[in-house]
Amino acid sequence: MSEVFPKSFVFGAGTSAYQIEGGRTDGKGESIWDRFAHTSPTMAETGDIACDHYNRFRDDIGLMAELGLDAYRFSVAWTRILPDGVGAVNPAGLEFYSNLVDALLEHGIEPWLTLYHWDLPQALEDRGGWTERSTVDAFVRYAEVVADALGDRVKHWITHNEPWVAAMVGHRDGVFAPGRSSWPEALSAAHHLLLSHGRATEAIRIRVPGARIGPALDCRPSYPASQSAEDIAANRHFDGFRNRWFFDPVFGKGYPADILDAYRARGRFEGDLPDFVLDGDLVAIAAPIDFLGVNYYTSLAISAGADETEDTGVPAGPNPPEGHTEMGWPITPNALSEFLTRIQGDYSPPSIVITENGASFSDGPDEDGVARDQRRIDYLREHLAAVARVRESGVPVDGYFVWSLLDNLEWVAGFSQRFGLVWVDHDTQERIVKQSGRWYTDVISRRGLDT
Ligand code: FCB
Repeated sequence: MSEVFPKSFVFGAGTSAYQIEGGRTDGKGESIWDRFAHTSPTMAETGDIACDHYNRFRDDIGLMAELGLDAYRFSVAWTRILPDGVGAVNPAGLEFYSNLVDALLEHGIEPWLTLYHWDLPQALEDRGGWTERSTVDAFVRYAEVVADALGDRVKHWITHNEPWVAAMVGHRDGVFAPGRSSWPEALSAAHHLLLSHGRATEAIRIRVPGARIGPALDCRPSYPASQSAEDIAANRHFDGFRNRWFFDPVFGKGYPADILDAYRARGRFEGDLPDFVLDGDLVAIAAPIDFLGVNYYTSLAISAGADETEDTGVPAGPNPPEGHTEMGWPITPNALSEFLTRIQGDYSPPSIVITENGASFSDGPDEDGVARDQRRIDYLREHLAAVARVRESGVPVDGYFVWSLLDNLEWVAGFSQRFGLVWVDHDTQERIVKQSGRWYTDVISRRGLDT
């Protein structure tokens, strides 16, 4: 076993507000996920209680300390801070996160705060949500309020989590909240999410001396299903739709020309640029960042005819999958190392942090109360090994957050999909650290992988 990660490398675990908090109380407003969970026939379960983390956060921080985490990535629920998205601040909401941050710091755990993990205030959605430019201003104000309240203690800031998912799955596919199904709305939402990332980055920078700020972008590396010209072209388009449309503007390259052409040809907007892209927007989106957060789970193979389809069901090209997780996602760690190398070549971010990586496996406690989730250990080991490999070749990956600390509400999949290092009994709220959690503790303390 060799020491592959330096002391400065950050090992953490992540969660998000709607997936774990529960606690619809103390002045919290309704978010689009509250509304969606209660009204969409596709949602069998809600986050009303989730992991009851709102009431159990001190115990959960105790578990983080037991795991030996360097850092904890959590998200703030906008509706706790500003119940209607704009207007009056709810002091109880700020107090909750202030207490959380204090308790983390008391345990020597660095808080990594995500401002937006998809839970837009419903009051803003009622006024057009992310398709409205005014939501950008509302988000910046929310960022300012949180920065003013917590910036003395929180130094790591993530603006948005997976804007592709928020825009496309929420506004194009109708599968996630707010459940819209319109291409023009999805593109407008994507633009306003990106713009609000850039503007909030600047706002936090002014308010929080020494802040380190970045977005958490989801990436889906893809490969052509064959070497036919059609599959290669379809794959190039998929990559533009899925990855470059977000990465390019964040790094100052504007929207990719080939995808603008394709979207225009498909009637999704008219003119050179969509009309919601105003002068100065692309400069604002490209505000300098301190790190790029990368969320990675799997990769895909793309064939002609399925060029904007997430679920091709085809295992990924040159890197055959090592099985699937229970989400049905192919396990492709080599695609992670290839993608990180490509990002470094294309964009040269100053630092990269894996803000999410993990696997859904339902292995729970046996009759001895031990949760033997060897498949999760294998998944995490392989992906950390991929990170170690690219670090050796000079790609500046400086941190890694397992998704997730706790088994939680996996959006429309409910509690059936378990990503946690810690088992949660959703009836009793009992927590049991899984074998993967024990393994991770060992990795963190040794700063290296067992072989
Ligand atoms: C990501 C989300 C996260 C979780 C994982 C499995 O897309 O950011 O909340 O659902 O997938």
